[in-house]
Formats: sequence, structure tokens, C-alpha cells
Amino acid sequence: MTGRTPLPPRDQWQQWLETHPGQDRVSQGIEKVINLEKWGAEVLVLSADSANPGQMQEVVTQAAAHFGEINGIIHTAGLVDYYGIIRSRTGK
Ligand SMILES: NC(=O)c1ccc[n+]([C@@H]2O[C@H](COP(=O)([O-])OP(=O)(O)OC[C@H]3O[C@@H](n4cnc5c(N)ncnc54)[C@H](OP(=O)(O)O)[C@@H]3O)[C@@H](O)[C@H]2O)c1
Repeated sequence: MTGRTPLPPRDQWQQWLETHPGQDRVSQGIEKVINLEKWGAEVLVLSADSANPGQMQEVVTQAAAHFGEINGIIHTAGLVDYYGIIRSRTGK
């Protein structure tokens, strides 16, 4: 799992959650990974910008070293555009 915002090292997650409750973005990321792992997923969290080829190559290298063969990638990096299609915009 990648994103530009890094998560702290795993051994600091519990402390982070205790000191950053609520809407903290990193806490939400940690909780999502914990939930995925409760459901049986094995998650390797790496920080990278999907528009940076060097960072993404490093992700591929580390993922392959950790999991072996990579069978697929789900790419959902993006910023949600709440303003709708261009035709219905009023300057934003
Ligand atoms: N949610 C929907 O109902 C919906 C429907 C249709 C289309 N979409 C599209 O699907 C995409 C994701 O939506 P979402 O609801 O999952 O948004 P989200 O919850 O904000 O997740 C987007 C993720 O992408 C990461 N990201 C953004 N830019 C990145 C980059 N350059 N490199 C690496 N990671 C990056 C963000 O983390 P960092 O900021 O830490 O990098 C974040 O974790 C958006 O483009 C959105 O427009 C969403």
C-alpha cells in the first residue's frame, strides 16, 4: 500500500493512535491497515508519489522482495474532485 504521506514505523503505531485520536489522517491510515490485517491481508506500507518513477521503482523492488511475484496492482491514487464536470463549474 502506497501513498505520499508516510506512516510511522509499526512499533510506534499504538502510541501514535493514543496521542492522535479522531480525524488525524495518519491515524486513519494506521487503522485502515490494522483492519485489513484483521481480515487476513498482509500489508507492506511504503511511501511514494505515483508520479515519481524512481520512488515507484523502489516500491516495486521492495514489494517483489517482500511478496515475490507481483500479480496485479490496483491504482487509486488521486485527489477527489468535488466540483463536478467542467460544464457545471462557476470558476473553480
Ligand atoms: N470515492 C469515490 O466515490 C470515487 C468515485 C469515482 C472516482 N474516484 C476517484 O478515485 C481516486 C481516489 O479516490 P478516494 O475516494 O479513494 O480518495 P482518497 O480517500 O482521498 O484516497 C486517495 C489516496 O491517494 C493518495 N494519493 C494522492 N495522490 C497521490 C500520488 N501522487 N501518489 C501516491 N498516492 C497519492 C492519497 O494519499 P497521499 O495524499 O498521502 O498521497 C490517498 O491515500 C480519486 O482520483 C477520485 O477522484 C473516487
